[in-house]
Amino acid sequence: MEMRFVSTGSYLPEQAVDNEYLSGIVDTSDEWISSRTGIRKRRITVGEGTACMAAKAAAKAVARADIDPLDIDIIIVATMSPDNFLPNTACEVQAEIGAMHAVCYDLSAACSGFVFALNTAYSFLKAGIYKTALIIGSEVLSKMIDWNERSTCVLFGDGAGAAIVQASETGLFESVLGSDGTRKNSLTCASRYIINPLVSQDSNSTDETALDYIKMDGQEVFKFVIKTIPLTIQQVMEKSCCTKEEIRYYVLHQANQRILESVSKKLKEPIEKFPMNLDKYGNTSAASIPILLDKMNKRNMLDRGDKIILSGFGGGLTWGTTLIEW
Ligand code: UT7
Repeated sequence: MEMRFVSTGSYLPEQAVDNEYLSGIVDTSDEWISSRTGIRKRRITVGEGTACMAAKAAAKAVARADIDPLDIDIIIVATMSPDNFLPNTACEVQAEIGAMHAVCYDLSAACSGFVFALNTAYSFLKAGIYKTALIIGSEVLSKMIDWNERSTCVLFGDGAGAAIVQASETGLFESVLGSDGTRKNSLTCASRYIINPLVSQDSNSTDETALDYIKMDGQEVFKFVIKTIPLTIQQVMEKSCCTKEEIRYYVLHQANQRILESVSKKLKEPIEKFPMNLDKYGNTSAASIPILLDKMNKRNMLDRGDKIILSGFGGGLTWGTTLIEW
């Protein structure tokens, strides 16, 4: 069995925040942000959470697929910013869209999350275990950002993207996925600390128990990405015996325009084959690839049979590059 994309959906919160606005909060400028990253605006939620946005993106994908939500066998939500420890985001989406026959869980792999979720869904479909999967990337990164820290607060945005994939007789799917936990400190955001009756309060200083925010060694991650991603793209092309002339688009995680330009140069592929929307939405982590796919889909940029390379990369470190046939 192979897999095909049936539909996509996305949801972005209403409130747009431009670079000018951020210049009023921290010592930055539109010139710095747009020239170093390509980002001009991002959407920031003023109330809708990760599950709510995920469900809205999912509902659009379900409506476009024209399927009964009861036919969805599995829902996987890739997120690093769930609303709660319990229940998981996917269960909340299930209840919202009425997909009561689905098994539901979340997957945490930072900005590689959607590609990892897609690979997990593909494995179930390929093995004949499930027929229909709903995969979602949804993030509320605005709650994980230190809004006094200019090196991170200008980069990220909130949003959700979804796709429905189904088992199919034909299709193409090749992946190179990887992780390097030894470089875990390049991108971090601590969660809860160990506090229980066996751990004295005194041993946790105020600093250690304070709320943590996203910290990133930007240059380190940048160097890792521009070295690793072109290699993994070449590897999936070799595995699938595809030439770069056959690839219609490279849909990369929307972290930085300079990253996309560097990958395009390294591959000697025109930048036009690297669609972008980071100028409008910033870096939405696991949501960036499905949001972009949905925007492309809506603009009729995707035709059946198109060969597309998806590539996500980020904290962990993690990376995943997958060649699909639309
Ligand atoms: O989504 C997960 C994967 N993440 C990525 O792929 C991100 C990869 N990294 C990047 O995209 C880039 O490294 C950043 C956009 C994060 C940073 O760009 P950079 O060109 O690497 O800048 P930098 O961190 O080296 O900082 C250069 C200068 C510093 O000042 P000095 O030390 O040269 O005086 C920073 O303090 O820019 C300063 N700076 C800023 N200035 C104005 C950092 N942030 C800002 C800011 N406004 N917002």
